[in-house]
Amino acid sequence: MIVEPKVKGFICTTAHPVGCAVNVEKQIEYVKSKGSFEGAKKVLVLGASTGYGLASRIIAAFGMGASTIGVSFEKEAKGKRTATPGFYNTKAFDEFAKREGIYAKSLNGDAFSEKMKDDVINLIREDLGKIDLVVYSLAAPRRTTPDGTTYTSALKTVGEPFTQKNWNLGDNTISDATITVANDDEIMSTIKVMGGEDWSDWIDALTDADVLSENAVTVAYSYIGPELTYPIYHDGTIGQAKAHLKKTAKEITSRYEDRGIKAFVSVNKALVTQASTAIPVVPLYLSVLYKIMKDKGIHEGCIEQMDRLYRTKLYSEKGYMIEGDGMLHVDDYEMREDVQTEVMKVWNEIDSESLFRLADTEGYWLDFYQMFGFRIDGVDYSADVEV
Ligand code: NAI
Repeated sequence: MIVEPKVKGFICTTAHPVGCAVNVEKQIEYVKSKGSFEGAKKVLVLGASTGYGLASRIIAAFGMGASTIGVSFEKEAKGKRTATPGFYNTKAFDEFAKREGIYAKSLNGDAFSEKMKDDVINLIREDLGKIDLVVYSLAAPRRTTPDGTTYTSALKTVGEPFTQKNWNLGDNTISDATITVANDDEIMSTIKVMGGEDWSDWIDALTDADVLSENAVTVAYSYIGPELTYPIYHDGTIGQAKAHLKKTAKEITSRYEDRGIKAFVSVNKALVTQASTAIPVVPLYLSVLYKIMKDKGIHEGCIEQMDRLYRTKLYSEKGYMIEGDGMLHVDDYEMREDVQTEVMKVWNEIDSESLFRLADTEGYWLDFYQMFGFRIDGVDYSADVEV
């Protein structure tokens, strides 16, 4: 069928299989253009189908030449419904890896479940023996814990409501949006979903099953950002979950000190992904930031970020490049003083009239559409494709 984008608010309900494949191929080409480097050899990526997880898997396979197992939760095509982008991305990744003789197996299902943990452990035992890098890149709205309780994360502030400028994507106006205050239950639930508990469970399950090698590394992703969005990312429900993630990294490292297992949190740059576009205020911040960083020639996407993380911070010749706060940082360009000073200047000024002039709205939408495989150069969108 001919696949066209169907956008509703911050979500697109269709995905283009060929566009998604080209997207993956471009990321692979980027990594290859930088050359190979020594790193992990057997890698498990949780949340491997889109965004930072997909980019991590690409750098592992095509930068470090690693065998990879990827876990994600995606929907297959059904009738006239296309599959989700992550489904097509994964299929494409597996094919590209196979073509180059690189081991890649992908599992589709709930990474929070015990069944998925068992399935992955069995697969590692059968095919790889032991894993030396575990990437934890899940971004999920809810989690069902092994006791059957389902927790749903909330996008709220803690303490006081937060009102800030917001780009209404429907009519391109800017008006204030208010993010409401979470109650204790919502804070706890968000920590359950987006905090470190499941990450820790994974590492326990893998070590108990003896499928994690000595001196293995595990990394999870976080975001801090500027003070402007602190009420969301730093102090809000997501912030509480990310604080838990940071605490979990320390706990994992000390729990497995005798085996030399090290857990890190990498603080990444704000980018358009399926997880970030759903948050109020964030699309405007992203498009202002994109414009400033592109003007300065320091803009990066997921693949550039992950390439820099693994090549220069985790597997660098100088060892682990941990900053003073105990975390790895590839948000360094975003957080540069000159960048943030300009962001704030524009932020104070921007309104509905100056939106297109002061923010990179085009870049935002391009990233958005490309996430679903649309608006990609060289793809014939009038052609019939197999979904
Ligand atoms: P994403 O939405 O692009 O990817 C999420 C991945 O998790 C997908 O592969 C999806 O299939 C998988 N997933 C979701 N629920 C699952 C489940 N129950 N079982 C198995 N797989 C499941 O998200 P993105 O943005 O790449 O986020 C990944 C991590 O990076 C998150 O921890 C996020 O907080 C962090 N991060 C994101 C930033 C951003 O601006 N997008 C900035 C800094 C950190």
